[in-house]
Amino acid sequence: MSNNNNTEEKISLPNLETDRLYLRERTVADAEAVFEYASLPEVSWPAGFPPVKTVEDEVYYLEHVLPKRNADHHLPSGYGICFKGTDKVIGSVDFNLRHADDVLEMGYTLHPDYWGQGMITEAAQALIDLGFTQLGLHKIEIGCYDYNVGSRRVAEKLGFTLEATIRDRKDAQGKRCADLRYGLLKSEWEKHHGSI
Ligand SMILES: CC(C)(COP(=O)(O)OP(=O)(O)OC[C@H]1O[C@@H](n2cnc3c(N)ncnc32)[C@H](O)[C@@H]1OP(=O)(O)O)[C@@H](O)C(=O)NCCC(=O)NCCS
Repeated sequence: MSNNNNTEEKISLPNLETDRLYLRERTVADAEAVFEYASLPEVSWPAGFPPVKTVEDEVYYLEHVLPKRNADHHLPSGYGICFKGTDKVIGSVDFNLRHADDVLEMGYTLHPDYWGQGMITEAAQALIDLGFTQLGLHKIEIGCYDYNVGSRRVAEKLGFTLEATIRDRKDAQGKRCADLRYGLLKSEWEKHHGSI
């Protein structure tokens, strides 16, 4: 019964282009490419999940787990990140949690070969713009562990405000750390991007 009919509830998003990137939905055909980075502990643990063990596990995730999560929480399908002119997925940017009808939480991952080049900031900005202009969002949130300097810096560069430091939580490996909560209101986004 886990083979459900989630596709009926699917919320698809348009493909997007940024200066350097092409954002499109991930499918089962991307399993090997996604596995290349989702199997790496330095990517998976800070993002909150154990390294994916096999390509078959990645296939199952893309075919069943991700669509079910999106359907259950009424979340849009999200994006695989590719370089323009290529079709290989090197990362992801998604809304992965729904806090209210108009408040979604964003998550992101990237293959380490491409860290530190502003890729996630560029991709996340495109998703934020879409969220406020086309999805009717009022607020977008980001959660990250306090030791995740790269993710904290992405949130800051995108104009998010640190709203809470939830002390003494555990990360995905059970290590104590603070859980940081960032938020960006549509009104704050409009100040930088002009009203729609
Ligand atoms: C976090 C992550 C998504 C960032 O992606 P990215 O494309 O490298 O991000 P950007 O290049 O847009 O920005 C990263 C910023 O953090 C800075 N940074 C990264 N690691 C850092 C460190 N250890 N110390 C100081 N600054 C650091 C970079 O210099 C850059 O800031 P700058 O533009 O001011 O120089 C990527 O590292 C990743 O996939 N990590 C593993 C998964 C993960 O943590 N996901 C987020 C879960 S909340």
